[in-house]
Amino acid sequence: MRVAMIGTGYVGLVSGACFSEFGHHVVCVDKDASKIEALKAGKIPIFEPGLDEVVAANVKAGRLSFTTDLKSAVPEADAVFIAVGTPSRRGDGHADLAYMFGAAKEIAEALVGYTVVVNKSTVPVGTGQKVEDTIRSVRPDADFDVASNPEFLREGSAIEDFRHPDRIVCGTTSERAANVLRELYRPLFLNETPIVFTSRESSELIKYAGNAFLATKIMFINEMADICERVGANVQDVARGIGLDGRIGKKFLNAGPGYGGSCFPKDTLALLRTAEEVNAPTAIVAAVVQANDRRKIAMAEKIDAAFGGVKGKRIAVLGLTFKPNTDDMRDAPSLVIVPWLKEHGADIHAYDPEGKKEAEKLLDVTHCPDAYTALNGADGVVILTEWNEFRALDLVKTKKLLKRPLMVDLRNIYRPQLMADAGYTYVSVGRATVKPK
Ligand code: UGA
Repeated sequence: MRVAMIGTGYVGLVSGACFSEFGHHVVCVDKDASKIEALKAGKIPIFEPGLDEVVAANVKAGRLSFTTDLKSAVPEADAVFIAVGTPSRRGDGHADLAYMFGAAKEIAEALVGYTVVVNKSTVPVGTGQKVEDTIRSVRPDADFDVASNPEFLREGSAIEDFRHPDRIVCGTTSERAANVLRELYRPLFLNETPIVFTSRESSELIKYAGNAFLATKIMFINEMADICERVGANVQDVARGIGLDGRIGKKFLNAGPGYGGSCFPKDTLALLRTAEEVNAPTAIVAAVVQANDRRKIAMAEKIDAAFGGVKGKRIAVLGLTFKPNTDDMRDAPSLVIVPWLKEHGADIHAYDPEGKKEAEKLLDVTHCPDAYTALNGADGVVILTEWNEFRALDLVKTKKLLKRPLMVDLRNIYRPQLMADAGYTYVSVGRATVKPK
């Protein structure tokens, strides 16, 4: 099959590269000429494990190419995916669909023969219909269907997620469009990946409902963590105890500093706006959004308490990105916690394995080249993101470098007993604080 992927952001680039790996011919299109030039030169604009290899192999095989010229890519394509950004509109939290409709118009002008236009971007319910209307108004003669095919990739494991998804969701009632989508995803059927065919509206809502549910799960366990700390329970035991119930499930029950990233914060807000608009307000999602905002401040206060006041203290912060294996800083908890600590008089020496370049633009702190440089001479260390390299710090060396053996671990990556034995005061989330023996 021939695919045009409009938008080479996170979703577009990963999906385009992975479709080409399935054996399809994919042209990735973006308006940003410098990005396309970089991609042509083999440079990947985002950090995503394994993506560079998939891109290189498929470019070499002649199945993957990049262009700024939408008009040359669309006529050839059996399926044109729209994977442009849908950021939160400033002020009201609605998804901004300007890029989406801009792309739809340009695609309309270039359509030749039967084509399925597929929305991969996260878009509010009803957008598929509007895209169809837009294309129809520009090209009443065109032979096309508009389908919805939301993406469930996680940053940091996107390639694996694309190759082994839990399910594929396709929103279309057109049998012709369904056949094209079936053919595109055929390599996955061999692994017996469930494919859910549904209406466009259901498919659009599945994406928001999925992210909102996961965000709810995270904030639920975070609230349980607060209770655990006050009653002497251990949140990891509670998570395991409830997670083994198949109806609840083990995943997304890690307590921490709240959710961040380019999806959960934006999508929960957009869902709230949709719910209000259709007069079906969702008290649960509203509470989740509020709880997440509060959580980041509460975590800064927790650090303050652990340090006996951060004023005048030097703090080593390990991890700044919203999660490991990405350089993405969007809505990272660090963007609230670190400025709070600074405003309250702390001197921050931070290290992030991949986020430094982005973080330097956003956080005015001392950015260190490695963890031990950040730790050297600090009054204590705070772990904000669970990068693997922080899971096995040399605790003897770390203790020598720190002025005080204090660790605040907001990701629960160490065992309290181990830390006490190693001579640390160790403060974590939803578990008792331990002190050196
Ligand atoms: C999320 C979804 O997991 C993907 O399925 C979806 O495709 C994607 O959004 C999207 O809509 O594009 P992502 O934002 O990459 O993926 O990251 P997650 O791994 O879901 O983590 C989101 C946030 O929740 C992070 O800040 C993470 O630290 C936090 N989290 C996650 C927890 O605090 N606890 C957990 O147990 C899990």
